[in-house]
Amino acid sequence: MNHSKSRRPKKVTVPSLLKMKQQQQKITMLTAYDFTMAKLLDASGVDTLLVGDSMAMVVQGHENTLPVSLDEMIYHAEMVGRAAERALVVVDLPFPTNHLGIHSCVAAAGRVLKETRCQAVKLEGGADQADVIAALVGAGIPVMAHVGLRPQSVHTMGGYKVQRDEDRLLEDASAAQDAGAFAVVVECVPSGIAKMLTEKLIIPTIGIGAGPDCDGQVLVVNDMLGLTNGYVPSFVKSYAKLGSVIETAVTQWCGEVREGEFPDTAHSFEE
Ligand code: KIV
Repeated sequence: MNHSKSRRPKKVTVPSLLKMKQQQQKITMLTAYDFTMAKLLDASGVDTLLVGDSMAMVVQGHENTLPVSLDEMIYHAEMVGRAAERALVVVDLPFPTNHLGIHSCVAAAGRVLKETRCQAVKLEGGADQADVIAALVGAGIPVMAHVGLRPQSVHTMGGYKVQRDEDRLLEDASAAQDAGAFAVVVECVPSGIAKMLTEKLIIPTIGIGAGPDCDGQVLVVNDMLGLTNGYVPSFVKSYAKLGSVIETAVTQWCGEVREGEFPDTAHSFEE
């Protein structure tokens, strides 16, 4: 009998997210960029992992999300996909993958599913991306849309600003749903508008800076764990201060090495 298989947790799937909305169970999603963190998050019971293009800022140290490449996303997604036993793993299509034509976008998203163990892609856009979403879904590639603040359009928007155009938000989210998206991230939108979107849509809304009424919530994991060096948006709640924990531990280790206290006999091999 294969015990490891019987102990494996039940995988969260695209249809199970829809079911969670119907049963009014909140959906949790956090970003992950590597095997170690993805294992920890998966074991902690998060429903969905997002290999976000925020990796450009969080992991690579760029000032926005634009520089990360498809190959880099796939490299990291493969690690996360291999770690996740329970969570559904969604991978961001990096700028400007979904603007290079439908054929090219299906090829790129196809690579994501073929070369990683991830189950879905996310793309920024709504009404303007309806034909792309429909083509991906038609090819068997589940799509999470992303409306409101679109970080890949930072230069067009002139910065990271709260999005208040209610009609456009509804048009974008509805078009994404009609095109076959299974969920939609709603970023930096007033709570009342996010609530309206959540009530009108059949597919789940996953909010970030969009108030408490979305069907689920997503955060950048480094922000919520206190690992971010620099600016953290005001909508992020800090659940730990891991940056200080690491600094304290490393300072102590450096001191002990310099004083000749580490390694002691307990951490050395005897003859
Ligand atoms: O890239 C990312 O981390 C995201 C989330 C902020 C939703 O798109």
